[in-house]
Amino acid sequence: MTGLRKLFVKSFGCQMNVYDSQRMADTLAPEGYVETSTGEDADLIILNTCHIREKAAEKVYSELGRMRRLKEAAAADGRKLLIAVAGCVAQAEGEEIVRRAPTVDLVVGSQNYHRLPALVARAQRDGHVVDTEFPLDDKFEHLAAPAAAATRARGVTAFVTVQEGCDKFCTFCVVPYTRGAETSRRVDTIMAEAERLADAGVREITLIGQNVNAYHGAGPDGRPWSLACLLEQLAQIRGLERLRYTTSHPLDMGDDLIAMHRDLPALMPQLHLPVQSGSDRILAAMNRRHTRADYMDVVCRLLEARSDMALTSDFIVGFPGETEEDFAATLRLVGEIGYSGAFSFKYSPRPGTRGAEMGEQVDEATKTDRLHRLQHEIDRNRATFNRRCVGRTFPVLLERPGRHAGQIVGRSPYLQPVQIEAPTSLIGAIAAVTIAEVASNSLFGTLKREPALAGAGA
Ligand code: 5AD
Ligand code: SF4
Repeated sequence: MTGLRKLFVKSFGCQMNVYDSQRMADTLAPEGYVETSTGEDADLIILNTCHIREKAAEKVYSELGRMRRLKEAAAADGRKLLIAVAGCVAQAEGEEIVRRAPTVDLVVGSQNYHRLPALVARAQRDGHVVDTEFPLDDKFEHLAAPAAAATRARGVTAFVTVQEGCDKFCTFCVVPYTRGAETSRRVDTIMAEAERLADAGVREITLIGQNVNAYHGAGPDGRPWSLACLLEQLAQIRGLERLRYTTSHPLDMGDDLIAMHRDLPALMPQLHLPVQSGSDRILAAMNRRHTRADYMDVVCRLLEARSDMALTSDFIVGFPGETEEDFAATLRLVGEIGYSGAFSFKYSPRPGTRGAEMGEQVDEATKTDRLHRLQHEIDRNRATFNRRCVGRTFPVLLERPGRHAGQIVGRSPYLQPVQIEAPTSLIGAIAAVTIAEVASNSLFGTLKREPALAGAGA
């Protein structure tokens, strides 16, 4: 092992990038890299990038302008600062990044993080290195596990990637190109990771994947296991109290998975189930492979299994050909479902996707207008959902210190942040909390009774 060096990883975009950033840090730790929270004193900076919309991708280049100045300042101090670009922009743009931003020393695609130590050494020695191949070996088998101390420092909730990539090819989406074909991790490696996390004090795990409910990893019996089977197995791990999974495609919400929401107490009553549009015409143009009625049917079956299920979604406004009538159908769907929250985006044509080639692109002013109207409707939904929680008592996982002294922030079963007056010694416990009031995005609650043991379920 060489002397200690400082690593700053900056994550953009989705939760999978957050997870990947942690794995990159874990993989570089044995090389002597310790994480720092700023680029100022770093020896290696990794930007873990997002390519989903144009704005996200462009952010990387403005960030690289700042990185160039940091690199110059380091050089003036006699230090060598290495700049790496990882993630989906790296995968999609490869060499182009080095051409546009010569300050970049290393471009590493989303499937090659396990090769980081060797790639960093090569970049240090030879200058520019670009590695965006999709190797045949499974990166999950090679990525380092975090040291127990690193896991503890990261808190009482954790993400675990179980599935990556997508075969659905929605016509707006770059994921099948940047993350590749759908692959699932083996059950035993997921179980080992979850057990390690639980041992280090993690109480809640969110399984992540671009199409997580298409999970079909090899089980110990050699057969492909469904997400339902995996969840059932994970629920048996001692100390692991809560499970979630995201992001799901409506087509893959099988009966076995829906039944888990009825039968598995550890599985939280909350689901991110993107619909994207409420218009059948647009859903077809998006190649979503489901209709509005199919989506409503999945929602009904979920609510039959668990009546207090909180649903969230993603929406795209201004997809090519979207008329005012199509958009009105989206607004109506939001009203009918009663979401607890949702993300909404203006359609952004992405290079290489079919949507970008379609005629009838919607103008920017119309997209902006529809986005505002949709967000207003979503905000109303969220406010109604939150208001209904006032006076109710439910188990809250106490996660971290709040903004003010004496406050803790926790999460309700429905994933809402809850602010509570309580000592920080209770972090990691699941406590019965009565909701007293709501603000725009947060609930305020009081401890009904202190948990007898840190971590005791309520
Ligand atoms: N333009 C706008 N939004 C997009 N999303 C994916 N691709 C695009 C695009 N080209 C949104 C979808 C997806 C979320 C992660 O990002 O709503 O569910
Ligand atoms: Fe992209 Fe999700 Fe569609 Fe796959 S299912 S192409 S990840 S939007």
